[in-house]
Amino acid sequence: MKKIVAFRGSPRASGYSNQLLDALLEGAKAAGAEVVVCDLNEGGIRGCQGCFYCRKHDTCVQKDAFSPMYRHIQEACAVAAAFPLYFGQISAQGKIWVDRMYPMFNEDFSPRFPGKKAVTIFAQAKDDPTVMQDAIDSVNGLISGYGWALEKSFLIAGTVAEGYTIPESLLKEAYQAGQQLV
Ligand SMILES: Cc1cc2nc3c(=O)[nH]c(=O)nc-3n(C[C@H](O)[C@H](O)[C@H](O)COP(=O)(O)O)c2cc1C
Repeated sequence: MKKIVAFRGSPRASGYSNQLLDALLEGAKAAGAEVVVCDLNEGGIRGCQGCFYCRKHDTCVQKDAFSPMYRHIQEACAVAAAFPLYFGQISAQGKIWVDRMYPMFNEDFSPRFPGKKAVTIFAQAKDDPTVMQDAIDSVNGLISGYGWALEKSFLIAGTVAEGYTIPESLLKEAYQAGQQLV
């Protein structure tokens, strides 16, 4: 069975980025995927300690709730990651993900586990989709650096509006993107 690994970067279990990720994962499951989810806000996942162990090894020296994710990623055909945007950057939980993903690179920065599909999801309060483009580009650039094909990058913009709900069309698009990851 094909495996998909998903990372939740919002501390809000029912936050918008998680809602869209859930729609995507539903699509992936419907297409027959096994889904492994890592909630970056749970389990006391620590930030990178800057030890450079992963320059010579294909995993992180730390043993915590993030540790199993390296093996899952190696086994997976696709990775999905969802992050809220705070003050022009991804959430702190998301930044820990970025740093703990250092083992995705070999010592010479060539991709260590290339050839996967990927989808990213971002959410922001403001309507204007361009205001935090740099943060989005930065994460998506890393995905390419891992040697993964970015199939789709979603931005949910305008969540500050009272009673905001994700448009059905976007939820459907995410569901279909999930199906296509398998
Ligand atoms: C600390 C913090 C900083 C934020 N900064 C911004 C910002 O600079 N621009 C913006 O559009 N939204 C900002 N937001 C709003 C979030 O992006 C918005 O609530 C989004 O829906 C969060 O994603 P989630 O629903 O997946 O949790 C901020 C929220 C928090 C908690």
